[in-house]
Amino acid sequence: MLPFSKGSLLLAPMVGITNRAFRTLLGELGGPDYAFTEMASAEAYVSRAPFESVYTDSKPRPERTSVQFYARSAGSLADACARLRNNPPEELPAGVDINFGCSAPHIRGKGGGSAWSSDPAPAAELVAAARAAWPGILSAKVRMGPDDDYHRLRGFCEGIAGEGLDFLCIHPRRDDQKFRGKARHEISLRLAQDISIPLVANGDIVSPGQLSMLMGTRTGPGGSKSVYAAMIGREAVRRPWIFALLRASASALTPASSTDRSIDRLEVGLRFLALAKLYLPEAWRLESARRFFSYYCEQFSFAHHIKYKTMNSPSLDIMAENFRSYFEQVPQDRYLLFSH
Ligand SMILES: Cc1cc2nc3c(=O)[nH]c(=O)nc-3n(C[C@H](O)[C@H](O)[C@H](O)COP(=O)(O)O)c2cc1C
Repeated sequence: MLPFSKGSLLLAPMVGITNRAFRTLLGELGGPDYAFTEMASAEAYVSRAPFESVYTDSKPRPERTSVQFYARSAGSLADACARLRNNPPEELPAGVDINFGCSAPHIRGKGGGSAWSSDPAPAAELVAAARAAWPGILSAKVRMGPDDDYHRLRGFCEGIAGEGLDFLCIHPRRDDQKFRGKARHEISLRLAQDISIPLVANGDIVSPGQLSMLMGTRTGPGGSKSVYAAMIGREAVRRPWIFALLRASASALTPASSTDRSIDRLEVGLRFLALAKLYLPEAWRLESARRFFSYYCEQFSFAHHIKYKTMNSPSLDIMAENFRSYFEQVPQDRYLLFSH
C-alpha cells in the first residue's frame, strides 16, 4: 500500500533545495503528504563519499519520504539500496526513487538520469535490480524522453512499471526542454489511464484550478481522466505554504468555517536560515540558502533587488540582515493573508 492516498500533494526532488532543512520548514507550514530528498549518486553513496549521508537524510519524516538515486549501473543501484536498508529504523526512508529524468550534462554524461530513457531494456533491468534489493516503496521519476512519441514513452513506462514499481512520477517535458514551454499534462492524464500503477503528475502546478483539472474534479483536456497525485517543485520554494493553501482550496470550506491565516514572509525566510544552520553541513549552508532565496524572493515587489542582495551575501548572518532590512524598506511585503 502506498504511504499517501489519491489526491495527495507531493514535494518534488530538487538538488540543493529539498534537504532536511527545507523539508522541516515545509512541515512547519503544513507540508506535503510525501516528499523526496534531492538526488544522490548511487555510486558515491556506496563508496561513502563525503556528505552522501546528508543527501540521503530522510528526516524529519522518513516514513513519508523517498530517497532519490541516480545510477550508472544496476549493480551500483542495488548496492545503494542494500546499504540504505541497513539504516537504523528511525532513519529508514519509506521509499527509494530512481531518477530517469535528469538531463544535466554531468549526470547524463556519466550514464545517469535521462541517459536511461532512450533504451527500455536496460532501464527495466535497473528497476528490477532495485526491486530485488529494496523491500520498501519503489518509484521512478521520468520526463517524456528524447522526443514527442507517446507510444515510445508509454512502452518505456510500462516496461519499468512491470519490474515492480509502486508508482511513477512524470514531468511531461522532453529531456532537451529543461523548463522551456509548458508541462504537457494532457500526456500525464493519458498515461495515467494507460499504465497499471498510480501516476503522479509534476510540472508547473501552482494553482487550485490546475490541481482539480489533474485530479478529475474539473474537466480539462483529458476529459474526466485523473492522475493519482500531484507533485510540486519550484512553487514550494517560492511559496513554502503552497501545500496548506492548495489543501484549503480543495477542501472547499464554507465561508463560515474558514479562518484567515497570516504568513509572515520575513519569519519564513529567517526560519529557513536557522534550519540550515541546524541541519546542513557548514560547507552547504550558503549555497543552499542562495538557491532557496533565488526562488523565494520572486514573490516580492522588488524581487530583483532582494534577490541580488541575498544571493551576494557572503555569510548566512549577513544574508539574514539583508533580508530583514528589505522589510524595513518595504513593510507591505511582509504579511500575506489567505483563507484557511
Ligand atoms: C533547482 C532544481 C533542482 C532539481 N533537482 C532535481 C533532482 O534532484 N531530481 C529530480 O528528479 N528532479 C529535479 N528537478 C526537477 C524537479 O523535480 C521537477 O521535476 C521540476 O522542477 C518541474 O516541477 P515544478 O514545475 O513543480 O518545479 C530539479 C528542479 C530544480 C528547479
